[in-house]
Amino acid sequence: MDKRKILIQLDSDPHPSVFDRVVAIDACADELFSYGNVQPDQVRDLVHGAIFTRGPKNLKYTAIFIGGSDVAAGEKLLAEVRKHMLPQFGLRVSVLLDANGANTTAAAAVRAAARHLDLKSAKALVLGGTGPVGQRVTRLLAGQGAEVRVGSRQKSKADKVCELIQTAIPNARLTPVAGGTPEEVRTALQGCDLVIAAGAAGALLLPRYSRIPAPSLKVAIDLNAVPPVGIEGVEVMDKGVERDGFLTYGAIGVGDTKMKIHKAAIARLFESNDAILDAEEVYALAAGF
Ligand SMILES: NC(=O)c1ccc[n+]([C@@H]2O[C@H](COP(=O)([O-])OP(=O)(O)OC[C@H]3O[C@@H](n4cnc5c(N)ncnc54)[C@H](OP(=O)(O)O)[C@@H]3O)[C@@H](O)[C@H]2O)c1
Repeated sequence: MDKRKILIQLDSDPHPSVFDRVVAIDACADELFSYGNVQPDQVRDLVHGAIFTRGPKNLKYTAIFIGGSDVAAGEKLLAEVRKHMLPQFGLRVSVLLDANGANTTAAAAVRAAARHLDLKSAKALVLGGTGPVGQRVTRLLAGQGAEVRVGSRQKSKADKVCELIQTAIPNARLTPVAGGTPEEVRTALQGCDLVIAAGAAGALLLPRYSRIPAPSLKVAIDLNAVPPVGIEGVEVMDKGVERDGFLTYGAIGVGDTKMKIHKAAIARLFESNDAILDAEEVYALAAGF
């Protein structure tokens, strides 16, 4: 008889995310072990509990989900998890990193863009590109070959993010740009066929004024659902709606795909015991969504 599917949730926040817990159960986990405020030095024992209990053949029925609002903390937990598995003996379990929903949200946004544009030749502007979601969006677009302008209210922040991503993807075509004023955003948008706004909740990043004229713009995707939305004129429910001469996606329009990707990623964990799902792997899983 198959073992019950156990998902071990390692969350860097004091309370393990209720959102992630609900999705885990809806996705297919039979049992959910949730740990909050997880520190890197506590990971070894948690991983050992996962890998030393069921035997290599049954370890695909145990998996780890790493969440929490701090993506950098999540990345540290992932590094620790990897360190303490013993693949040489088949003693490992599959792992998904989706701290702050960054990987699944970025994958959904970039998949939306890919429905309409050939990303290899796309020119994209990512506003709020320094945040956890914006960085993942930039990384995925660059990995697909797009030319990406990374916008920030402080160009020095965009410089650092570009350096970081360039190290991970040496052939990335990235340009840091200032996007703090409507004039700066208007300049940054010139020649782009895609804009993705990944700014903080309730922050308007792209007012109408800044995109008139923007004749090259074909697709605009806004990830902020909290009014005022990030791109003026885009409605939160938009999913490929034509407005002002280009196609628009709003945060809930993208969120629908994000939920499908999130559930598919959890389901994938239980297919084998060797998957490590970070941004690129989650994006690959989302093909066809
Ligand atoms: N639809 C979905 O399914 C889904 C899922 C998860 C997240 N989200 C949304 O995705 C967006 C990005 O998430 P996140 O966690 O990466 O966001 P975040 O860290 O809160 O903010 C992203 C960036 O926005 C800029 N920013 C912050 N406050 C601002 C302000 N008052 N005015 C203008 N810009 C400001 C900052 O960049 P600079 O300082 O460099 O300018 C920051 O790095 C959020 O709106 C979030 O709610 C959507």
